[in-house]
Amino acid sequence: MRKAKLILDKDYVISPIDKRIYGSFVEHLGRCVYTGLYEPGHPTADESGFRGDVLKLVKGLNVPIVRYPGGNFVSGFKWEDSIGPKADRPRRMDLAWKTTETNEVGLHEFCEWAKKADSQVMYAVNLGTRGPAEARDVVEYANHKGGTYLSDLRIQNGAKEPFGIKLFCLGNEMDGPWQMGSKTAYEYGRIANEAAKMMKWTDDSIEVVACGSSASTMPTFGEWEYTMLKECYSNVDYVSLHRYYGNPHNDTQDFLASTMDLDQFIRTVASICDAVKGQKHSKKQVNLSLDEWNVWYHSSEQDKELHKRAPWGSALPLLEDVYNFEDALLVGLMLITILKNADRVKVACLAQLVNVIAPIMTRAGGGAWAQTIYWPLKQASQWGRGVSLLPQLKTERMDTKHYSDVPLTDAAAVMAEDGSVTIFAVNRDLSEPAELELDLRSFGSFASAAHSVLHHDDMKAVNTEADPDQVRPVDVAIDLKDGKVILPAASWNVIRLGK
Ligand code: AHR
Repeated sequence: MRKAKLILDKDYVISPIDKRIYGSFVEHLGRCVYTGLYEPGHPTADESGFRGDVLKLVKGLNVPIVRYPGGNFVSGFKWEDSIGPKADRPRRMDLAWKTTETNEVGLHEFCEWAKKADSQVMYAVNLGTRGPAEARDVVEYANHKGGTYLSDLRIQNGAKEPFGIKLFCLGNEMDGPWQMGSKTAYEYGRIANEAAKMMKWTDDSIEVVACGSSASTMPTFGEWEYTMLKECYSNVDYVSLHRYYGNPHNDTQDFLASTMDLDQFIRTVASICDAVKGQKHSKKQVNLSLDEWNVWYHSSEQDKELHKRAPWGSALPLLEDVYNFEDALLVGLMLITILKNADRVKVACLAQLVNVIAPIMTRAGGGAWAQTIYWPLKQASQWGRGVSLLPQLKTERMDTKHYSDVPLTDAAAVMAEDGSVTIFAVNRDLSEPAELELDLRSFGSFASAAHSVLHHDDMKAVNTEADPDQVRPVDVAIDLKDGKVILPAASWNVIRLGK
């Protein structure tokens, strides 16, 4: 049995947790919107065509914010295509995903859906093929009360009240050569600055996210952030980070160590923000928006074939990763890493929400079910609200192919307003359980304790429509008398201590 010890003190706090770290992402890509969120004629569809079974699963995740409408898609998108009578909306070639966008679901429909899901919209503007003028136009259309051409057009299109979108992304992955209208860091920094200025002049209550690097592996990573931030620092509020991991060589131990990279990525971007802050003698702090994160690799090969078979199709089954148990463990570890960086990461969006690298899957005309990765996100979103405590963790360490000094047990801890504590812990050891000793020195006694475990003997186990509960958390007995909790080998654990 491995041994680990977690010391927590209620006065040792990393930061209040911004609930937006439990956000998600909906892109006009594959079947995320069409036959995902939206399928008129489906037995559970509401009067607007939104699937009720999907909405129920989304609500189970308690998603406070949803990034929309892309992604790579947004860099060729004309937001005006997505408003007005549906019959008049143009069908367009989407160069990002080589598909046809029907615009059947647009700004009004998505805002209506988000309301039903109790979520806020985080709206991405196109700074790839378009510029600051079109970006500020959408702010006026969405957020201005009325009395101007664009706000009156919104009213004419059926939305008397403004949508009140508070967070905007200034483009998407503008450092990537695959992006329509990709830019150098300087070019992007200038455009982002002008767009941010004009968008905030249109509505001074909004916040904006500047594009950071598309991954820590980009050759321009670091230089990109520094150069573009020098151009737009005073007008932006967050820098985005995107990060996906995979296990294509079936080295699970190495895969589960990937959060070492995520942690480093986050800390480096925060340092660069602070370097620019220093260089500008600024008092303002720019924080981070990890607005795309997940596991993504299972569908890569099948997608190449799909594109050959059905070029310019609509609602193609693209990026439909079927997640297994080890993916759920990595998602849990990524959530732990986000919580441990709650002082800088204020927004995070699991990419994406339905069908496309998603926790929720659907069959057109059929059922909807939770993938393995649904569970850690649901539990973190449910119990991970309050303040992130500084976890002093003593644990054995290991080296993997790409990472050294990897803790065998990793954990984050959250204290809620009522003083109750939730510990999220992963045992990375694939064969041995770990005995986690809890030293909760300043907390006094707890009135209740509960322990939920997500484990499967088969790292590759998946949930399907026919067998949706293969991988799901179970409650296990907990006895806190001796302050020790057993974390099974390869497990995600949620330990709740109630006041
Ligand atoms: O989430 C899928 C894609 O990944 C997004 O469109 C893009 O921003 C990223 O490369």
